[in-house]
Amino acid sequence: MASKQILVVPGDGIGQEVTAVGKKVLDKIAGKFGHTFTYDEALVGHAAIEATGNPLPDETLAKMKNSDAVLFGAVGHPKYDNDPSAKVRPEQGLLKMRKELGLYANLRPIKLFDELLGASSIKEDILRGADILFFRELTGDIYFGEKGRKNNGDTAYDLAEYSRFEVERIARKAFDSARTRRKKLCSVDKANVLETSRLWREVVQKIAPEYPDVEVEYQFVDATAMLLIKDPKRFDVVVTANLFGDILTDEASQIAGSMGMLASASIGDGTGVYEPIHGSAHDITGKGIANPLASVLSAALLLDISFGMKEESELVISAVDKLLKAGFRSSDIADAGTPAEKILGTEAMGEQVL
Ligand code: NAI
Ligand code: MG
Repeated sequence: MASKQILVVPGDGIGQEVTAVGKKVLDKIAGKFGHTFTYDEALVGHAAIEATGNPLPDETLAKMKNSDAVLFGAVGHPKYDNDPSAKVRPEQGLLKMRKELGLYANLRPIKLFDELLGASSIKEDILRGADILFFRELTGDIYFGEKGRKNNGDTAYDLAEYSRFEVERIARKAFDSARTRRKKLCSVDKANVLETSRLWREVVQKIAPEYPDVEVEYQFVDATAMLLIKDPKRFDVVVTANLFGDILTDEASQIAGSMGMLASASIGDGTGVYEPIHGSAHDITGKGIANPLASVLSAALLLDISFGMKEESELVISAVDKLLKAGFRSSDIADAGTPAEKILGTEAMGEQVL
């Protein structure tokens, strides 16, 4: 029996709706296993800008640092998406959080529940058995380099930078993880064109001999984008840079059926942060139809990785599996054959998990 402090940071849009479900699931687990979980909440993103003018208030950051884990929602608001001139933006809160907490490794498991084989637009025989774990580097690359304008604003630039140290620490996490799985690692870069990618490949090649039991493959990112859809089963652990990982994992969400199914864990030197890979989804905000399973599965990752509660984590995943087996679907994972009474909203899906 353990005592843990969890910070819930729902953020914006459907982040509010799905995180409420993730939290209920954590609470249920605590009750079932006799753990004591205490919760606090904090602001981030648009909600934080409205309240304080800052997308990541110091108070939020301090609470994150003092918690055992963070259950995070999403940030974003339509008012910024079409206003490139906005200087203060919700995503700055996200990037600052990752940097300040040193969350350099973003784990994104792409696991297809068998019951959802029909929900994907990819053919069933290509999908069946696909199980990929992405390691996306999260605190470097073009997202954090110098950016700006020159030539009176007519030229814009974003600088991509990686250090040997940054590549090595994420690569080691991926190698270690590959050892516990099918012992296959695919390192994705664009080493034919980019200098940061050449360093990336050099570093991975240099440490690979320390993991003789892991088979390493090197791919260019454009080829990976194609192969993910053509033959997802060829991948086991994939390690890649921040920008490539961002794009490839949205693509890979179609292997799992929907963005609403994909959870992530961001880990580093301090508190771990657990969140769906999707954003605040303005198009469905307030409709009560967002799929909460990405948040529920993020809670499962939190239990496993930050708290070492394997059994508790597996119970959450099996609850998701059970409700899918029973035929329940949120609208994003329903297909033509799903009867109307089995299509549930966010809260009702949460009730089924509980
Ligand atoms: P999005 O991930 O919010 O939505 C993409 C599409 O997937 C939408 O059609 C949405 O309805 C659907 N979708 C996403 N999650 C779903 C769920 N749980 N259940 C059912 N359908 C779901 O990405 P989009 O639309 O490009 O961006 C919306 C806002 O989110 C923007 O302001 C963007 O900056 C922000 N964003 C934030 C992220 C974060 O906080 N980590 C990540 C990506 C985008
Ligand atoms: Mg993304």
